[in-house]
Amino acid sequence: MKKSVVLYKKLSAPLMARLHEQAEVTLIESLDESGLAKLREALPAARGLLGASLRLDAKLLDLAPNLEAVASVSVGVDNYDIDYLTQRGILLSNTPDVLTETTADTGFALILATARRVVELANMVRAGNWNQNIGPLHFGSDVHGKTLGIIGMGRIGEALAQRGHFGFGMPVIYHSHSPKPAVEQRFNAEYRSLPDLLQQADFVCLTLPLTAETEGLIGAEEFALMGPETIFINISRGKVVDEPALIEALQQRTIRAAGLDVFVREPLGHDSSLLRLNNVVATPHIGSATHETREAMATCAVDNLLAALAGEKPKNLVNPTAWKH
Ligand code: DGY
Repeated sequence: MKKSVVLYKKLSAPLMARLHEQAEVTLIESLDESGLAKLREALPAARGLLGASLRLDAKLLDLAPNLEAVASVSVGVDNYDIDYLTQRGILLSNTPDVLTETTADTGFALILATARRVVELANMVRAGNWNQNIGPLHFGSDVHGKTLGIIGMGRIGEALAQRGHFGFGMPVIYHSHSPKPAVEQRFNAEYRSLPDLLQQADFVCLTLPLTAETEGLIGAEEFALMGPETIFINISRGKVVDEPALIEALQQRTIRAAGLDVFVREPLGHDSSLLRLNNVVATPHIGSATHETREAMATCAVDNLLAALAGEKPKNLVNPTAWKH
């Protein structure tokens, strides 16, 4: 008998067909109130879950007593109560690797957009306010040759370092749990303590996961260490940053600008002070959002889910201690 699988993310036709061949599929088209009600109804029979952008806590998981596997279509797993999943022996998988380059591209898009004031000045042209040759008031700052500071030297951090070092001739400094000699050799990168990095980098880029340890890592004290020319980039998670402290630093111009793809609350509210600052480039969590990469992530998640439901160890198992075979 086919196992019951609940999708809370729509997949491409070929992936849907693959899943239908092997499982009894319930699709929750959107996570609005009626979608969530449908999800709750489907959970009691579910053996597998696949989706993203939904907080799966113990309360929701308790509605799914038969659950064997959860396949997240994301690399970040901060939406999941991993301890509870593990305690229940439910396998959690994610989609690393396939989104690394695309997410690093997003990071660089924000670096360039903030430094060269691309959005602000493009809006000026669109608004019909380009009335004379531009002067120093509209100048940006160079990216090439500036110091790239990366906090969290995982896969995405490395891909950012690669772009900075080889593409833009940027000295790379980084901070992570521990020094990474291979990265240092490849990108001529130098390890720094967090305060040193904040003081020395022209671009401070966050690429680390949200965990109990990283929540609120960058707050008023950290922004105070940055200089008035520092540009702050966040492509990790909004909650790694104390958002009011960031807003204060941007308003007071104690840092120069911010390129933000992630926020404490998503979607970002229209009333956010961030949207009233022209030294902010805000994008709607587009880190991995290209057609190619999202399809690759969905494929990876389907592979992980089908493997787990077939009793095999999924390639991207997040909680290996839940694996009892
Ligand atoms: C991830 O995969 O965690 C991204 O943030 C989603 O785009």
